[in-house]
Amino acid sequence: MITIFFFFFIIITPSTSSDTLTTTRILTTNQTLFSQNQTFILGFFRASNTNYYLGIWYNNIIPQTIVWVANRDNPIDNSKGYLKMGHNTGNFLLLNSSGNPAWSSNQTNAKNPILKLLDTGNLVLQDSSDKTDENSNYLWQSFDYPTDALLPGMKMGWNLDTRTDKYLTSWKVTGEDPSSGDYTMKIDYHGLPEGFIRRNQTIIYRTGPWNGVRFSGVPNMKDDTNDLKYNFTYDDHAVWFSFSLTNPSLLSRIVLNSDGEYQRYMWIQGRWNKFSYAPAHECDYYRECGSYGVCDSNASPVCSCMHGFSPENREAWNLRDGSDGCARNTGLDCPNDRFLHLQNMKLPETTRVFVNKSMRLDECEGLCKRNCSCTAYANIDIRDGGSGCVMWIGQLVDMIVFPTNGQDLYVRLAAADIESSSSNKNHTVVQGVGITLSVLVLVLGLVALCYIRKKRQQRSRGLMNEVVSSSGRNMDDLELPLFDFDTLTMATNNFSQDNKLGEGGFGSVYKGTLIEGQEIAVKRLSEDSGQGIEEFKNEVKLIAKLQHRNLVRLLGCCIEKDEKMLVYEYMENRSLDSILFDKSRRALLDWERRFNIIYGIARGLLYLHQDSRFRIIHRDLKTSNILLDNDMNPKISDFGMARIFEKDQTQAKTLRIVGTYGYMSPEYAMDGNFSIKSDVFSFGVMALEIITGKKNKEFYSDNDELNLLGNVWRHWQEGTALTLIDPSIGNSYTESEVVKCIHIGLLCVQERAEDRPTISSVVLMLSSEAPSMPKPKNPGFSVRQNHPNTRLFSSTQDESWSVNQVSTTIFDPR
Ligand SMILES: *[C@@H]1O[C@H](CO)[C@@H](O)[C@H](O)[C@H]1NC(C)=O
Ligand SMILES: *[C@@H]1O[C@H](CO)[C@@H](O)[C@H](O)[C@H]1NC(C)=O
Ligand SMILES: *[C@@H]1O[C@H](CO)[C@@H](O)[C@H](O)[C@H]1NC(C)=O
Ligand SMILES: *[C@@H]1O[C@H](CO)[C@@H](O)[C@H](O)[C@H]1NC(C)=O
Ligand SMILES: *[C@@H]1O[C@H](CO)[C@@H](O)[C@H](O)[C@H]1NC(C)=O
Ligand SMILES: *[C@@H]1O[C@H](CO)[C@@H](O)[C@H](O)[C@H]1NC(C)=O
Ligand SMILES: *[C@@H]1O[C@H](CO)[C@@H](O)[C@H](O)[C@H]1NC(C)=O
Ligand SMILES: *[C@@H]1O[C@H](CO)[C@@H](O)[C@H](O)[C@H]1NC(C)=O
Repeated sequence: MITIFFFFFIIITPSTSSDTLTTTRILTTNQTLFSQNQTFILGFFRASNTNYYLGIWYNNIIPQTIVWVANRDNPIDNSKGYLKMGHNTGNFLLLNSSGNPAWSSNQTNAKNPILKLLDTGNLVLQDSSDKTDENSNYLWQSFDYPTDALLPGMKMGWNLDTRTDKYLTSWKVTGEDPSSGDYTMKIDYHGLPEGFIRRNQTIIYRTGPWNGVRFSGVPNMKDDTNDLKYNFTYDDHAVWFSFSLTNPSLLSRIVLNSDGEYQRYMWIQGRWNKFSYAPAHECDYYRECGSYGVCDSNASPVCSCMHGFSPENREAWNLRDGSDGCARNTGLDCPNDRFLHLQNMKLPETTRVFVNKSMRLDECEGLCKRNCSCTAYANIDIRDGGSGCVMWIGQLVDMIVFPTNGQDLYVRLAAADIESSSSNKNHTVVQGVGITLSVLVLVLGLVALCYIRKKRQQRSRGLMNEVVSSSGRNMDDLELPLFDFDTLTMATNNFSQDNKLGEGGFGSVYKGTLIEGQEIAVKRLSEDSGQGIEEFKNEVKLIAKLQHRNLVRLLGCCIEKDEKMLVYEYMENRSLDSILFDKSRRALLDWERRFNIIYGIARGLLYLHQDSRFRIIHRDLKTSNILLDNDMNPKISDFGMARIFEKDQTQAKTLRIVGTYGYMSPEYAMDGNFSIKSDVFSFGVMALEIITGKKNKEFYSDNDELNLLGNVWRHWQEGTALTLIDPSIGNSYTESEVVKCIHIGLLCVQERAEDRPTISSVVLMLSSEAPSMPKPKNPGFSVRQNHPNTRLFSSTQDESWSVNQVSTTIFDPR
């Protein structure tokens, strides 16, 4: 008691902004320690349950962001707790008001210890004679006892010599209750090490093994920023993961939140921006597609069996439950088996594998081939052409196929199964069950296989030649159902006017019903569409290769009697404009749906711009080209005007300006310059139309000179943007989300292409709760009368963008 009073007396005098606590001081609940350059604070905080916890948080960051908690499961229930030096023990104790320890640093050998908060956020116990901060031989350090956050320089994983494991445990409720939650994120050192998120004992998510660059299951890990370096160390003594910042003025942290989501944040312009997170989509959930099943988040349904395998439980599989996985079509016949090469994979689970870090791939293959229980092999490290050998014994589980940045995997198959696959060797190995099902129906009896032969074509114009010239070399023959003309005539009731869904620049679209009942949309290209057979085939090839849940899916084609037709899946809810601008139907689109549509379009566009095998500029994005399925999920359609860019090409110029007034960016409409940024412009227009329910070209406010963009811009500047929201949305929206979307829309329609964000930034901004965004500058085409190029939009043009918004073709006079 006397000592306590004595300490009380002392603490009031010295400054509380010290970074060090010595044996002669205590820290009460209303005192703090600051790290030397004031980056972090050690102190007591009160959680929503009003208890007191000792923790570390960032200085000057609001809301308070706690990165470490000492006594998370043993709170102090009143303000009279304090942190002090234990008698003769050399460790620090957190005591409650009756002097009982709630937490202890458990260190007993220090002679003259001090507790110090470092600028890294590490709280360390060291001998007072030890003056260096670089010393990693601290007697104790908080970095060894992570709670839910990983800070730069902090290691997560195993010390195999001492068999100790450092891992993250979520809060019970992030931001409210710091006691240990149900989720953990741990590195498993068995086999080839990888990370797991578990809820209690159940695995929720697996990162995949480290491949030298990234976790095998996190394809975007290296891409997101250059300010960050990851380090995964794996040897006989230790297995751990950490990250560091190359720019020390940045702040970043990784958190496991109370929903079991791994999140990496960066502090930028006054906000925590979520840069990456996992699980991010269906496929990330552990064993989503069972053993030998492969998940593809861009396919629908997401699960497929690998080539040579079929669903184990077809009934469940058809109900889109892939978790029973797949079984071999043909049993193995050991010495004669062959290997199937899969690309862009998340490697299967590696906790029970054989590993040799110095073996080459060919040695690995030899070893696997000789050992009859080996089911697959792969390189461990993908750098420098690949090295190391990982060999699976037994079932392969939890695989994903990515559009890019996945790994090569070689799977043992009976020779018979390999041979049947050699005709589509380079094409995705995965045989889509869902696709097979829907297409199978069509195929039966009606459809022959249409092998579209690769053929080079001389450059003339339009999309198709671009495909050949840029990527023709790599294109394989592609199998696509070929519909015969009579079938389609019958399905569309002889292309009757009643079945007509609309008319586009290249022909008409009809609704059809096949004999089996499946509904289809048939796009019949007009003879004067300007497309030759080869061009047409190339378009088909291109579209068939584009597979994403936000792109309309091509079911087949028809080439007969000078007719060229494309057969698409039919979309129940038709096009977005048919609902958005329809007084009686627009209320179907509440805010959640509208946001979902904006986000879906952005995802589809991201796929076109970045993730597919080519870089595709759509050039004719508008609400009538966005189709909606039963659940109002958006699908981008109509690639008749799309152009393919080389991966590194960013801009092109055309004399033939095609597109739709109101959606065209200024540089394209005026000079024929198009780029990914002209698509972004069109996207921005659509986003603003979706929010306001007004068409860009039609909208005139009272003073009659502003179109929609100009009007939104004016309200934005006046701070009244929220008044523009479509009244039929009702009241069920989050203001901040609407404002964020308007902000993003305005960024996309900025006059100068270089100011506009890329679609990947747009997706990031849309998916972040409070992204930091630049201020928008003035939009293109905002003031009609100042439109410098009115000349271009002649009366014929006006006609064509009336009624059903047919795409127009404008020949530049120059
Ligand atoms: C802490 O706060 C309480 C009440 O707010 C005050 O009575 C006490 O003196 C403070 N203690 C110190 C050490 O500042
Ligand atoms: C202090 O902690 C001890 C042991 O955990 C507990 O029995 C006691 O009730 C606590 N005292 C107060 C005032 O919270
Ligand atoms: C200190 O030791 C106690 C009892 O062995 C243990 O429960 C506690 O977790 C340890 N604290 C730390 C920080 O290691
Ligand atoms: C604070 O200290 C850390 C670690 O020494 C250093 O990386 C960082 O740049 C410093 N920050 C400021 C604002 O001085
Ligand atoms: C996890 O375990 C805790 C404690 O055993 C239990 O209360 C909780 O319900 C479990 N959570 C789940 C999702 O099983
Ligand atoms: C990872 O950290 C270890 C130990 O700190 C270091 O030796 C190694 O060079 C680092 N690796 C990379 C890739 O930064
Ligand atoms: C790993 O492979 C290399 C090269 O084949 C071989 O020399 C070495 O003995 C192997 N190590 C183990 C542990 O099998
Ligand atoms: C195959 O490899 C595994 C893992 O190294 C080993 O346990 C097993 O004995 C091998 N089997 C044969 C037949 O060599």
